[in-house]
Amino acid sequence: MTTAIGADIYGADVRNSEHVAQIKQAFAEHSVLSIRNQHLEPDEHIAFAEAIGKININRFFTPLESHPNIAIVLKEKDQKGAIGEVWHTDHSYDVEPALGSILSAKEMPPVGGDTAFSSMAAAYDALSDKFKQAIEGLEAWHGTYHVFVGSPEAQKARAEGRLNANAMPEPDVKHPLVIKHPLSGRPCLYVNPQFTTRIDGMSKTESDALLNGIYEHCKQPEFQCRVRWREGDLTMWDNRSTWHKAINDYHGYRRYMHRITIEGCALEAA
Ligand code: SIN
Repeated sequence: MTTAIGADIYGADVRNSEHVAQIKQAFAEHSVLSIRNQHLEPDEHIAFAEAIGKININRFFTPLESHPNIAIVLKEKDQKGAIGEVWHTDHSYDVEPALGSILSAKEMPPVGGDTAFSSMAAAYDALSDKFKQAIEGLEAWHGTYHVFVGSPEAQKARAEGRLNANAMPEPDVKHPLVIKHPLSGRPCLYVNPQFTTRIDGMSKTESDALLNGIYEHCKQPEFQCRVRWREGDLTMWDNRSTWHKAINDYHGYRRYMHRITIEGCALEAA
């Protein structure tokens, strides 16, 4: 899609095991794959996800009643807030953060509702050597209370059924600020504006200043691609090497997606 990140795949079928083998290779290279025109039933979505890895059930999202390992990502036409509209990395708050997520577009607005992605490998590479040295060895804390439970937006989403009202947060977890990507070995920045709460061992003022500087750097369009969805498309992304953000620009229309998350592993410092 861009020089930094992402590939569009046309003419593939994720129900075909030979295609799946090629998709896995492309995934390691591009981090974001938009596999067009799949129109998957929930069982087919699950079968494809299981070919990638073990399914991780997100405790905060509302599950699909018939298939509880599929999470619903929904904004109704009279709702204002959308799930995932702040730049983030899914599950960075877990001890073993998810490998990736696979999102299937069921119902889209006539225009808008794209998903933007940013490459944390490209963002790391573009840092100066001095900055890379300054952040070497740092670790950061990640948590969920402020996102899924405590904030006014979370309370509203829980009341509206867009988030699971019964899910409670686990204790915050600590990860290296620069990780070695488990598949490619590339160094990737591993902090994000939604779930990272602070840098370990720093005051709040110091931590906010450093994190905000890193976030400004990572938000540059040079590291990004943008998926313009059509109904039936499937997009999978690697959570260890990317951020993403749901673009909430389609008020008055319904957008309905199914998401499956794949389990990952503990992350090592680069
Ligand atoms: C998500 O953050 O997982 C949802 C992304 C989207 O709805 O585009």
